[in-house]
Amino acid sequence: MSVIILAAGKGTRMKSPLPKVLHPVAGTPIIKKVIDAVKGAGATEIRVVVGHGEALVRKVVEPMGVVCFPQTNQWGTGDAVKAADPGSLKGDVLILAGDHPLIEPSDIEGILKEFKARRCDLAVVSTVVKDAGKFGRIVRSGGQLRAIVEAADASAETLKIREINTGIYVMTADTLNDYLPRIQNHNSKKEYYLTDIVSITQEAGDKIDAITVRQSVGFGVNTQEELARATRKLFLRKARQLMEDGVLMIDPKTTYVEDEVTVGSGTVLYPGVYLRGRTKVGGYCMLEPGCYLAHTQLEDGVHVKAYSYFENTVVRAKATVGPFSRLRPETEIGPEAHVGNFVEMKKVKFGARSKAGHLTYLGDAIVGEDVNIGCGTITCNYAVDKKKYRTVIGDRVFVGSDTQFVAPIEIGSDAVIGSGSTITKDVPAKALAVARGKQIIKENWTPKNPDASKDEEAGKA
Ligand code: UD1
Ligand code: CA
Repeated sequence: MSVIILAAGKGTRMKSPLPKVLHPVAGTPIIKKVIDAVKGAGATEIRVVVGHGEALVRKVVEPMGVVCFPQTNQWGTGDAVKAADPGSLKGDVLILAGDHPLIEPSDIEGILKEFKARRCDLAVVSTVVKDAGKFGRIVRSGGQLRAIVEAADASAETLKIREINTGIYVMTADTLNDYLPRIQNHNSKKEYYLTDIVSITQEAGDKIDAITVRQSVGFGVNTQEELARATRKLFLRKARQLMEDGVLMIDPKTTYVEDEVTVGSGTVLYPGVYLRGRTKVGGYCMLEPGCYLAHTQLEDGVHVKAYSYFENTVVRAKATVGPFSRLRPETEIGPEAHVGNFVEMKKVKFGARSKAGHLTYLGDAIVGEDVNIGCGTITCNYAVDKKKYRTVIGDRVFVGSDTQFVAPIEIGSDAVIGSGSTITKDVPAKALAVARGKQIIKENWTPKNPDASKDEEAGKA
């Protein structure tokens, strides 16, 4: 099966500078969803007709192995198909729009199966809706499909029809190539309507039919409101799938898991959790409200407490992180480690069972196993030369509260750092390092009666 996806239109009603088909629906560009669906149904040759925002669209779709065909002027859907060089196609051709994000491989498989079963030359995919709005109307006589009439060109009587054209078609390459050239632009929009191929094929005596499908297959995105609706549907679809696989969701309506994300069974997702991109969550994890994870991997049994924000991070088994933790790219938290509130890490390898419980910034650091990082510890990784330097802390190091490590710096295993230290020189293994002003004691420094002494001063003046 070959596929032509029409995606050259501007999407004027989106009122957005982004080409319509690149708008993300539940995190994935709309057109990617369509390409994934046809690929999932076994399409071998996929052609995408591009026009508005061509360079941007190419950037997204070409890495998916599709071939782009530019349509110079957007003269209508019929003209768009011509741009895809249909003369070089063989076998059955599926044509669909690039703005239908809810279509799934099984829908396409079903449509193709019907097409084969009915042995027709051309089939249009239709659905029945409550409000047919601007959709093309499916006109039948004696139950038989006759034509598609665009809303802009329809009579009041035709406008009452609630069976509409989804914009999906299957036909043999021969049918397409025989009749596509006959389409004319004699209509209210002066466009070449692909829909006209239906009546042309019928009049030529070839066999046509309409295949009726569920409504969401025909759901196209034309406005921001429709985009939001499609997004909600896809998030709910994903949530249902996850729950079927044993993920616990307190409130699936307010838990957002993007398509590619995987979540292991026994994991609990609280409301307001947002899992993005290539995130992989293991089994028996707990993600409390408001956690945002992008391209992050959690191994089994990880507990992420409320309002934590991770990007490109790996958290090993049974670690606990949060609440209010921020793990920035290239951070790896070791097994059973503990990262507490208001801790930020960037490019850190944080060892097994180590702890950074409170108010800490670690950047460009390697922290060994069983280390204790006291409250308020900071790695000073960024220097006046605008370069980044590394802090290396060995195993079992005890870092007292309010310590600064001025990188580059290395702390040997089992060392102890006194509270309030500003460490500027390497510390050997097992050593104690204290780097702070010495405490001074002045006995009986406070005057016996501070008020009396003030009066005295005033008297002198
Ligand atoms: C089209 C159908 C209509 C159907 C509806 C379903 C026609 C004439 N009408 O209307 O019967 O009910 O889809 O959604 O086909 N495109 C191009 N080049 C062009 C024009 C359009 O690539 O010159 C692409 C658009 O980017 C879009 C698709 O074709 O992905 C459909 O075009 P659009 O203008 O949205 O058609 P509709 O008016 O929705
Ligand atoms: Ca200090």
